[in-house]
Amino acid sequence: MAEVQSESNHNGGVLEGGGDESFVPKAEGFWVLYQGCWLRAPAVQSVKIVQEQFKARPDDILLVTYPKCGTTWLKALAFAVTNRFRHAATSADHPLLTQHPQDLVPFLEMPYRQLHPLADLEKLPSPRLLSTHLPDTLLPPCVATLGCRVVYLCRSPKDVLVSLWHFLYKVNKNYSIDKAFELFCKGESSYGPIWEHNLGFWKESISNNDRVLFLKYDEMMAQPVEHVKMLAEFVRVPFTEEEIRCGVVEDVVQLCSFDTLKSMPANSSGVSDRIGGVPMENSSFFRTAKVGDWANHLTVEMAGKLDDIVEEKLRGSDLAF
Ligand code: A3P
Repeated sequence: MAEVQSESNHNGGVLEGGGDESFVPKAEGFWVLYQGCWLRAPAVQSVKIVQEQFKARPDDILLVTYPKCGTTWLKALAFAVTNRFRHAATSADHPLLTQHPQDLVPFLEMPYRQLHPLADLEKLPSPRLLSTHLPDTLLPPCVATLGCRVVYLCRSPKDVLVSLWHFLYKVNKNYSIDKAFELFCKGESSYGPIWEHNLGFWKESISNNDRVLFLKYDEMMAQPVEHVKMLAEFVRVPFTEEEIRCGVVEDVVQLCSFDTLKSMPANSSGVSDRIGGVPMENSSFFRTAKVGDWANHLTVEMAGKLDDIVEEKLRGSDLAF
C-alpha cells in the first residue's frame, strides 16, 4: 500500500484529523496526496479500507463523479430508472418524494468507513447501485476485473469550481473564491486534480465503452430524455417501446428535475451529516443548476487561466469542455 505523502510545496500544511475543522481549506495545505489524489486526511483511512476490503460484485453499478458534477442528480436518475418496476416515477409514494437522493445510493468511501463498516454495503441485494468520488486509480482493482459497469458524469471545470466554492463557503465564510480558484488551478481539491479524474474515466470509456458510460452534465441538461434512455440501456434495463410511447422516460426526467427535487421537504429543509462530523443543510446540494454560472463569479482572467490549464492537461485526449 502506498504511503500517504504530505504536501511539500505548501507553507505550513495543516493535515487535520477529522470533523468540521478539516473539511474546508483554512490557510495553506489542506489535503494530503494519497496515490496521486488529493484527499482530506480522514478520507485516506476510508479509501484504504475500501481498497483493501470492498468486495465488488459483477453486477454492481457504480455512479462515479468528481464532487459537484451532478452526483445528486445522477443518483436520482439512476435510482428512478433501475427501480421503476417497483416504483413508477409518477407514484405518490416514490422514495424520491420523501428521501434525499444522496441517501438512496450509498457512497463507497463515505460516510467515513471507520465509522460505517463496509458490511453495510454487503447487506444490499444485487444488483447494487453504489456511488463514489474516487478516481479510477484509487478504485479497488476488483471493480474493473469483475467488469462492474461505471456511469461517469463530468462537468465543465469552471462550473465545478464555482459550485464547490459555494458549497464549502457554507461551512467556512473565510473561504474566498480567490483561494478556491488558486488551489483548484493547482489541482488541489478533494479527489483532485479534476483533469486526472476526468481523463482516467474518459480513456476507459474509449477503450471499454461497454463498461464505462461517460456523460457530461451540460449535455445531459440540454437533452435529458436522450441521456436517460442511454443510461437505462447501459445499466441493462432499457425502456420498452411501450414505456417510451407512454412517456415513462419523461416522467423520470420530471421526477428528477432540479425544480422537482429542490422543492421536496427532504431536500429543501433539515440538516444531515453525510460525511462524518460535518453537518450540512440538505438544500446545499441544490443551488442553481445553471450551465455557465461560473460567469457570475469568475473574472474573465480567471476563466481564461483555468481554461488554459484544463486545455493543456487534456491535450491529445479529444476530451474538451
Ligand atoms: P450548482 O452549484 O451549480 O447549482 P453534486 O450533486 O455533485 O454535489 O453537484 C451539485 C450540483 O448539481 C449543484 O450545482 C446543484 O445545483 C446541481 N443539481 C442538483 N440537483 C440537480 C438536478 N436534479 N438537476 C440538475 N442539477 C442538479
